[in-house]
Amino acid sequence: MSFFNQNRKDTVAAGDVIIVYIDFTTMLAVHVDLSAGKTAIHTKYGAIPFQSIIGHRYGTKFRCKNGYVQLLQPTPELWTKTMPFRTQILYLPDISMILMQLDLKPGSVVGESGTGSGSLSHAIARTVAPHGHLFTFDYHELRVLQFQKEINSHGLASVVTAQHSDVYKDGYGTLDGVLDAILLDLPCPWFAVPHAKKALKKSGGRLGSFSPCIEQVQRTCKELKAHGFKDIVTLECLMRPLEVKTLTMNCWIPTQAEANTDERRDNKLKTPFSQVSFPTAIVPWEVPGHSGFLTFASFYS
Ligand SMILES: C[S@@+](CC[C@H](N)C(=O)[O-])C[C@H]1O[C@@H](n2cnc3c(N)ncnc32)[C@H](O)[C@@H]1O
Repeated sequence: MSFFNQNRKDTVAAGDVIIVYIDFTTMLAVHVDLSAGKTAIHTKYGAIPFQSIIGHRYGTKFRCKNGYVQLLQPTPELWTKTMPFRTQILYLPDISMILMQLDLKPGSVVGESGTGSGSLSHAIARTVAPHGHLFTFDYHELRVLQFQKEINSHGLASVVTAQHSDVYKDGYGTLDGVLDAILLDLPCPWFAVPHAKKALKKSGGRLGSFSPCIEQVQRTCKELKAHGFKDIVTLECLMRPLEVKTLTMNCWIPTQAEANTDERRDNKLKTPFSQVSFPTAIVPWEVPGHSGFLTFASFYS
């Protein structure tokens, strides 16, 4: 099992974290820990004893008494959908935008605060692996301890360091001039801006900030400007699903002869209008689902 593409395994082994895909709306993340007292996964299709899945091929069906499930390797995306929440978390549309806007790639060195439940952290870790690093900070000690356990059991220890620290007060510790990019998901990100500037590489870097309210965005942008950040933009990721509908309209379908004459213009139509139905995509006027605003900025040396 691995969250990193390069370390994928073929079959389930004891100690793996696996994703049990039950149906389109139900997935479970399960730690196959044979020593922890729990011996089976319980699903609506029946119980799955841990012993019976050891050696089962990832990505294939596993037959239960009343149906089947799929056993999948975890990915950051599947983890975000199945993880135990300890805080509000970032979801895939915002995460994708953050990875792109911060220009993260293998080898990047990144700072994150706060860690929260580690949803974004998993995606950053996979992006910067194997030679980059994520330093993630949270002032809630229990969350840090819990995330440190996950880092180890998810095989992320070589790429992620989780630290207990208040970034408003203490900034990014010893990381001055080290980071390529920083992401702030904090109630008052403007307090972290001066520290973030110090922690970015002297040659420059990217900063991102996620805030649910526009008043937070205004204060953050003001602080970014005051500290010399440039290219400040704020955006919002909204899913705009297209609704496919069959519409019926009155159409004039001319005969070949009519099509070649001016009869329609002259209102001398012989062929009447007929009702035509066709599938089309309707764009919604309003898009619910505000998660937050994403502000990005660059710091140049
Ligand atoms: C919304 S959560 C972050 C969620 C995270 N992005 C995720 O995807 O799971 C915000 C976190 O910021 C932490 N936090 C708040 N103020 C902080 C501070 N001054 N220093 C460090 N962490 C802080 C909170 O403890 C909380 O865990």
